[in-house]
Amino acid sequence: MSIRSIVTGTGHYVPPRIVNNHDLGKLMDTSDAWIRERSGISERHHVDAGVGTSDLAVEASRRAMADAGAEPSSIDFIVAATLSPDHYFPGIGVLVQAKLGLGTIGALDVRNQCSGFIYALSAADQFIRTGAYKRILVVASEVQSTNLDFSDRGRDMSVLFGDGAGAVILEPGPADNGQGILSTHLYSQGQFAAQLWMEKPSPMDNPTFQAQFFEEGRFYPKMEGRNVFVNACTRMPEAVRAALAHNGLSIEDVDVLIPHQANDRISLMVAKGLGIPVEKVVRNIDRVGNTTAASIPIALDEAVKQGRIRKGHLVALTAFGSGFTWASALIRW
Ligand code: COA
Repeated sequence: MSIRSIVTGTGHYVPPRIVNNHDLGKLMDTSDAWIRERSGISERHHVDAGVGTSDLAVEASRRAMADAGAEPSSIDFIVAATLSPDHYFPGIGVLVQAKLGLGTIGALDVRNQCSGFIYALSAADQFIRTGAYKRILVVASEVQSTNLDFSDRGRDMSVLFGDGAGAVILEPGPADNGQGILSTHLYSQGQFAAQLWMEKPSPMDNPTFQAQFFEEGRFYPKMEGRNVFVNACTRMPEAVRAALAHNGLSIEDVDVLIPHQANDRISLMVAKGLGIPVEKVVRNIDRVGNTTAASIPIALDEAVKQGRIRKGHLVALTAFGSGFTWASALIRW
């Protein structure tokens, strides 16, 4: 019998502190009108001191496990995606394992930034379909607010990003009833690595941490916003089209599209590029900002809980981000 991965539970968590555009306007030369017009964002959530990416991941994971009716002891593998781990090493997978009190199961960390959740989902999907694992926790989490440049110098980046986490539980199910992950498609183009990156710290420097880099702001994320924008608007539709063609499906078959919430203008361009009506597109960036790897599972959980995603629906996920990396996944709910 051929097997597919079924999403049996979803969950998300954002830290309680809301930072709106007016709050940011007190820190730098920006305005609520500029941020809303250029990105569609009104507010985002920021952690308080001492709260790490793994803490948000744990909350989202608890909610996803409860949604799936899965006892923590039944989870047999973790795939965790983030660009903002609590520590340089180890990754957050092991911290999630420890904080949830799980057994000594494997924990794989995925480093694919905004595409991280789909990369993580894809990895987990392979483990389920080969029969290696029976109940995988896939979690994506980010704390970005603690390393953004909230001065005028960093205003193009710091207004966009927010903190949060989302998780799903994957389990095997029979392929012949049509349900589950139909495919994942993953891409990269490293020639553009420096167009959206955090350049330092780098072990290529000796010593790695230098006061000069700090003064130059090189420990902050940097982005060539326009080229990222253009590539995001072309690569996400390409990835969705590849997924549909692979499964013999068409644009009309898509019930719900969840694009990575990078910028609401990008989401609308992706929908337009694909010819998908805007009513089918999940958009929550106004309330949470760009939460990088966490953005898709947060939006997915909201859409499921709101009843926008129902049994039998064809759900298309697509992401684009630093690397460059981009990806798509098709799920029959
Ligand atoms: N507030 C006010 N003005 C700002 C600003 C802010 N927060 N950030 C930038 N500006 C200014 C710029 O300095 C520029 O001023 P200038 O014309 O005097 O040089 C002006 O606004 C226009 O900048 P521009 O870069 O042309 O704006 P844009 O319409 O391209 O929007 C982004 C900027 C960052 C919102 C947009 O490029 C974007 O969304 N890029 C992709 C973001 C993304 O997806 N990133 C993550 C990938 S997953």
